[in-house]
Amino acid sequence: MSNDKINIVETELYEAYESLRGITDFEPEIALVLGSGLGGFAELLEDKQVIRYDDIKHMPVSTVKGHSGCFVCGTIGNVKVIVMKGRVHHYEGYTMDKVVLPIRLMKLMGANTLFLTNAAGGINEAFGQGALMMITDHITSFVKSPLIGPNLEGLGTRFPDMSQVYDKRLQKLLRETAAEHNIDLKEGVYVQTTGPNYETPAEIRMFAKLGADAVGMSTACEAMTARHMGMEVMGVSCITNMAAGIQKTALNHEEVALIADKISATFQKLVWHTILKLGQ
Ligand code: HPA
Repeated sequence: MSNDKINIVETELYEAYESLRGITDFEPEIALVLGSGLGGFAELLEDKQVIRYDDIKHMPVSTVKGHSGCFVCGTIGNVKVIVMKGRVHHYEGYTMDKVVLPIRLMKLMGANTLFLTNAAGGINEAFGQGALMMITDHITSFVKSPLIGPNLEGLGTRFPDMSQVYDKRLQKLLRETAAEHNIDLKEGVYVQTTGPNYETPAEIRMFAKLGADAVGMSTACEAMTARHMGMEVMGVSCITNMAAGIQKTALNHEEVALIADKISATFQKLVWHTILKLGQ
């Protein structure tokens, strides 16, 4: 790795931060990443400030239809939240360090907790279409680590521990919130693939043997980056479809989006009340 590369990743991050600080002085406590179907959640914040990704230097902009791109800063109860409405994916052609740049930015702004959400395919046959799954652990071995390259010493250590990525206290909080609101919350391990293709049935059988309960194309790399910086992380997947071979029909993005929309009211309720509880 050349010194130029060191400079690019680090320089871009701090230039992006300076550019963002030219727009807002908001200091969030919690960073929330909205997956498919959850975009409407950003409307629920109070005292909103919307910052378009386009307006931030070096910020990657989503190329996927229906993934609008902006940060929304505001409050939920007495909690100061920054919401990422739209994320970018490695499959769009962005390098991993670009994919995780927004996560690093939100930490630099002040957020010490990261709440990740996504749409995922269900591998665990005890799940059904439309289920919600709290992520208890993940497998990222099939995608390139976003931490490859010179270590950003200002952010974290070279060899970060990943033995407890999803914080136990936050898992308990999610479980309690779900129970209080009669939301059936499954639990399991999320495996990240590169996408953009969905998996083959043979791949899904392999993932099942490896201990994965759900599969998707995002999230785990964001969680890893957040842990590198010492953030506390939690995550919930919306199981929009059963994975290839388990579901007997072919997978398509329209169906994923449709089911994500259908479950969004329950998903929003869970996220909203969990954040309220975090402020107590
Ligand atoms: N596989 C990968 N990503 C996904 C899926 C899936 O089945 N469903 C939603 N996102």
